Amino acid sequence: MRVLVVGGGGREHALCWKLKQSPSVTELYCAPGNAGIAAIADCVAIDPSDIVELADFAENLSIGLTVVGPELPLILGLADEFQRRGLLVFGPNRAAAELEGSKAFAKDFLRRHAIPTARYHVVKSMEEATSVIKSDEVGMPLVVKADGLAAGKGVVIATSREEALTQSKKFISDRHLGSAGTRLVLEEFLEGDEVSFFALSDGNKVLPLVAAQDFKRAFDGDEGPNTGGMGCLCPATNLKAETLKTIITDIVNPTISGLAAEGRKYQGILYCGLMLTRDGPKVLEFNVRFGDPEAQAVLPRLKGDLLPLLMEVAEGRLGPHRLEWTRDPAVTVVVASGGYPGSYDNGVAIEGLGNGAVEMGDDTFVFHAGTKAVGGKIVTAGGRVLAVTALGQNLKTAIERSYRGVEKIQFEGRQFRTDIGKKALERLAGG
Ligand SMILES: Nc1ncnc2c1ncn2[C@@H]1O[C@H](COP(=O)(O)OP(=O)(O)O)[C@@H](O)[C@H]1O
Ligand SMILES: [Mg+2]
Repeated sequence: MRVLVVGGGGREHALCWKLKQSPSVTELYCAPGNAGIAAIADCVAIDPSDIVELADFAENLSIGLTVVGPELPLILGLADEFQRRGLLVFGPNRAAAELEGSKAFAKDFLRRHAIPTARYHVVKSMEEATSVIKSDEVGMPLVVKADGLAAGKGVVIATSREEALTQSKKFISDRHLGSAGTRLVLEEFLEGDEVSFFALSDGNKVLPLVAAQDFKRAFDGDEGPNTGGMGCLCPATNLKAETLKTIITDIVNPTISGLAAEGRKYQGILYCGLMLTRDGPKVLEFNVRFGDPEAQAVLPRLKGDLLPLLMEVAEGRLGPHRLEWTRDPAVTVVVASGGYPGSYDNGVAIEGLGNGAVEMGDDTFVFHAGTKAVGGKIVTAGGRVLAVTALGQNLKTAIERSYRGVEKIQFEGRQFRTDIGKKALERLAGG
């Protein structure tokens, strides 16, 4: 079968790498891909948001399944266009993707279905924001969230009423994020550990996958600005088996059935961003696709063929599965361009990628995120450049291997966190 992967980052490299191993995949395409993906798939120069062009391509080449990496095309209705043309697609349609496309929608949905989440108010004007922020109903800190897609720049934790007002004004009046800030969610601050949980659904049935921990801040010790993600651990080390059950019964299942009941059948992977509070797990947000870099940590641990799972989801006939995961934990370290998430240079030559294969030996894998081939050399082409994942019989080994992999790859100004997994390791050592 011919398979098309949409996107061009580390997540899509991991998806391509995993799908390439499927005996059913005869030809693999990726739009637009990157220098690493080009070694295992035919890269097609189509922007992930060009839905009609992608559908034309899939139709012309008789693509058997299209797997969508990023959220934007899903929120724009890629799945609807593909389904309209009878093309199989992995990823929710526009109505279901609103779960990520609008934080206000997601919060109201959670409330309608009594799914645990932080208390909140949705506001549509500065007057409304002011009256909420000045009222006794909200305490500090207060989380100010832009409603729409904001690439990690739409959430601010305000520690005073003044700051909450200033932030709200930036989003709602000054339009710092354009139309993403026309509505705001003003939300109760939750304390606890964060964890991401993934599950597949065909719209009715749910197949739980795994939990992971990601590292969003740019610098060691969770300092510095928010990024797309600087590292990941899988499985999450901060989750008890009991909590995992609660997440499935109280969060994932009612979300999938609630969406179905509202005529928003969810077919794809559901990414639950959760806070493990003293009162149990609560939803921070939903994403409607694989995480990046979570996919790079999750997929190397999955044994067996990914394609049938994605096919069954797309066809709405998800069977019972006993997924097999390696017991070995995975540690992913993202190597970024100097200056990321601020401004950085592109076109910097990368050394040490060896023969260009994903496998570096020693259960270590390198996934390309922002890379480009220029005159036979691979250069940087983005903020996040590569993700190095390693498996190990324990967390310590996985961390060591991952950093050994990182050290092999050099480019000027490269930047990465040196503490991915460190806290979890200390916690495990401390019992
Ligand atoms: N209610 C909350 N309480 C505490 N921290 C929060 C809350 N909501 C969000 N955060 C923090 O802000 C981060 C980003 O928020 P999130 O809702 O995931 O938006 P996005 O990923 O779209 O930027 C979260 O990963 C979490 O660390
Ligand atoms: Mg998030």
